[in-house]
Amino acid sequence: MKALNVNIDRLTADLNELARFSGESVPPPAVTRVLYTEPDLQARAYFKQLCTDAGLVIREDAIGNTFARWIGSQPELPAVGTGSHTDAIPHSGMYDGTVGVLGGLEAIRALQAARFSPTRSIELLMFTSEEPTRFGIGCVGSRAMSGMLVPKKLADLHDADGLRLDDVRQAAGFVGSLADVRLLKDYYSAFVELHIEQGPILEREKLPIGIVTAIAAPASMTVELTGEGGHAGAVLMPGRKDALCAAAEIILAVEAAAKDTGSPDAVATTGVCRVHPGAINSVPSKVTLMIDIRDVNLAPRDQSVQAVRAAIDEVSKRRGVSAVVEMLNSDPPAAMAPVVVNAAEGACGKLGLPFKKMVSRAYHDSLFMAQVCPTGMIFIPCRGGVSHRPDEYSSPEEIRRGVEVLALTLAELSCHS
Ligand code: GLV
Ligand code: MN
Ligand code: MN
Repeated sequence: MKALNVNIDRLTADLNELARFSGESVPPPAVTRVLYTEPDLQARAYFKQLCTDAGLVIREDAIGNTFARWIGSQPELPAVGTGSHTDAIPHSGMYDGTVGVLGGLEAIRALQAARFSPTRSIELLMFTSEEPTRFGIGCVGSRAMSGMLVPKKLADLHDADGLRLDDVRQAAGFVGSLADVRLLKDYYSAFVELHIEQGPILEREKLPIGIVTAIAAPASMTVELTGEGGHAGAVLMPGRKDALCAAAEIILAVEAAAKDTGSPDAVATTGVCRVHPGAINSVPSKVTLMIDIRDVNLAPRDQSVQAVRAAIDEVSKRRGVSAVVEMLNSDPPAAMAPVVVNAAEGACGKLGLPFKKMVSRAYHDSLFMAQVCPTGMIFIPCRGGVSHRPDEYSSPEEIRRGVEVLALTLAELSCHS
C-alpha cells in the first residue's frame, strides 16, 4: 500500500453539502433530518451518488439501510463493515453520525488511492434512523438488522401522527420484505464506527482519538397521563385532575431517580412533554412524556427505571390521573471486541497518535452491530463536548485524524482471509 492521503477538503465539502439537506428553517449549521422526510431522502440520494462515484456497489434493504460495498479479492468471505447514520434530531448539528458515514467513504477513497487491495470486501453502511425522533426508539435500522427488533414490531412502530412504519417506508419507496432486514449469520467479520465523542473528555485531555471499550445501556419509555380538562377559570383547585401537574412531579422524579442511584454514570431525561389541548385557559387533560434512562452498568440503569415506574404509580394514584406506561426499549450495554479495539490501537500506533480507551455514554448503531459481529468504535473530539446542538463542531484536522485511524483499522481487519 502507498502512503495514505485523506482528502480532508473533499470530505469537508461533502459534509457541508450533506448539511444542506435539512427540514429546519433556521440557517446552517443547524440540521433537522427526520426519517423518510424529504431531507432524509435527499441525503440518501446524495450519499448513494458519492458511493457510486467511488465505484462502490449499492444495495438498500426494506427500511432503507444502505450498503455500499468495495468488493475484496475474496468476496465470498464475510465483509468488514463501517458506517453510521445521517438522520439528525430536530435542530441539531452536522457532525453526529455523518462523520462516520462520509468519513467512512473518505477512508475507502483514501485506501483506494493508496492502491490498497482488500481481501475481504469493505462495506459502508448508512443506517436508517439511529435517532428516535420519528418512531420513539433509536437505532431502528441496526436493531432490526441484529434481529432484536422483529419484523412484526418493526412494521407496527408508529409515529406521533399514528402513521405505521410499514406504511411510511413504502410511501418512501422501500418496498421489500421486512423479514429480509435481519442480517444473515456471518455477514460481517467485524464492524467499526467512526463518531464524534459527544462528550468533553478527549478535548479536555487534548487527545485526538478515543477507542471505545463499551457502550452504555439505554432504556426509554412513554407515559400517557390522562386527567380531566376544563375551563381554567371555572374548575376550582380542589376538584382538579391536571395531567400536566402530575407530569411535572414525574419529571422531577425522573431526575431524582438517576441521582439517587449514586452511580456517576446514571442519567435520566424527560425529553418530550406533549400537552393536550395546549391552551392557556384550559386545564391540561392529557400529557405524553418520553423518558430516556441510561447507565454504563445494567443494575443502576434498571434501578432508575424501577424508581421512575414507582413514582408514576404513586403520583398518578394520588392525583386521580390515569397513567399508561409503555417501555420502548431496554437494551443491555455492549462490550467492544478486542479484535477491533486492537486494530484501532495498531492504527493509532502506526500514525503516532495518542489515544484513550473510553466508554460511550451515547448509544450508536454499534450497540446492535455488537450483537451480530465483533464491533468497535473510534471517537474524535468535538468542541466543548457539545452534540445534538447546532454548534456541534469537530475541526477538519480532528476529522482527518479520525478518518486515517478508521482507514488503517479497516485495512487491518480486511486484509486477512
Ligand atoms: C444517540 O443519538 C443517543 O441519543 O445516544
Ligand atoms: Mn445523535
Ligand atoms: Mn450519532
